[in-house]
Amino acid sequence: MPFYHKLGSIPPKRHTQFRKPDGSLYYEQLFGTIGFDGMSTNSYHEQRPTQVKEVKNQYSVAPKIALKNNIKSYRLKGFQVKPENDYLESRKTVLINSDCAIILAAPKESTRAYFYKNTDADELIFVHKGTGKLRTMLGNLDFKYGDYLLVPRGVIYKIDFDTQDNRLFIVESRRPIYTPKRYRNWFGQMLEHAPFCERDMRRPQELETYNQSGEFLIKVKKQDDIIEMVYASHPFDVVGYDGYNYPYAFSIHDFEPITGRIHQPPPVHQTFETDAFVVCSFVPRLYDYHPQSIPAPYNHSNIDSDEVLYYVDGDFMSRNDVEAGHISLHPAGIPHGPHPGATERSIGKTKTEELAVMVDTFKPLMLTEEAMAIADGSYYKSWLE
Ligand SMILES: [Fe+2]
Repeated sequence: MPFYHKLGSIPPKRHTQFRKPDGSLYYEQLFGTIGFDGMSTNSYHEQRPTQVKEVKNQYSVAPKIALKNNIKSYRLKGFQVKPENDYLESRKTVLINSDCAIILAAPKESTRAYFYKNTDADELIFVHKGTGKLRTMLGNLDFKYGDYLLVPRGVIYKIDFDTQDNRLFIVESRRPIYTPKRYRNWFGQMLEHAPFCERDMRRPQELETYNQSGEFLIKVKKQDDIIEMVYASHPFDVVGYDGYNYPYAFSIHDFEPITGRIHQPPPVHQTFETDAFVVCSFVPRLYDYHPQSIPAPYNHSNIDSDEVLYYVDGDFMSRNDVEAGHISLHPAGIPHGPHPGATERSIGKTKTEELAVMVDTFKPLMLTEEAMAIADGSYYKSWLE
């Protein structure tokens, strides 16, 4: 997160003596990315964060690829993914390449028996259904419908739900996920033309600190394996931290749409960027206001990017038979566009209530067995008159 944040107690100068009430030292940890060049946080722990007691089971959670070289458009019926009690087991990777994984999850229960850490990827968790609290070593974030939760790689977390009917759309990214550079000035401040600003970013304000010894299980994801590591101290033992690398929340409902006289291209909806894909938010907005405008998008060929659209709510003007929870995959290499009748239907409309999340990847996506289980195999023919 490119904004400085401070929470809890820290000493006036980094890398200096910071003592507990009993006179002993707190344990400092520099927690960064991209070696020492990326964003980092300096945190102060009650106990050494290095106390591995045991490394237990290790097992693969690598998704099974069903379709590697795909040229067909697909529709996936996301709500057909079955709810499961356990958070990690509920996560089903449907689309994947070497940069990112797109995951659907319907977890019923909070994580109680373990903590979780993804060492490979930043996680962008979009909350489609459910409310609760994301608990992390760097503070907590309350979440509800429409929130993006950005969890940088390496952040140890638990997820507590108030609800049983939860639906999450998750993107794991091997490259750090940032807000778009073009929205920020050379100091990192959000510019006036950006569709959101610093006030919309919810940073952790609540820090839970446990100075406990014992056995604490962290399920660590590394190279598509889960490794069960037992630590001798509670993972949430931070008394304070400052820096730029921490989890935050942003609600899609706080995205201010940019509109024009004629159809605006997807970049006006951009919310996050990486070297390997972008994430856009399509939100309720006024339609184009040129007297001859066509609000539906034109046919287009993103000749070198796969386009994934996750439909959240409202009406989806360019698609027939699309429901909330559906994913459309329009692969690189072929054009796609409005379904028959959608262009004509859109003329004269003044606004849309659509809510959707788009992920455009620069490398092709492979479909997994989990995807094929919820796929509409005839979708690619749905443009025939
Ligand atoms: Fe498109």
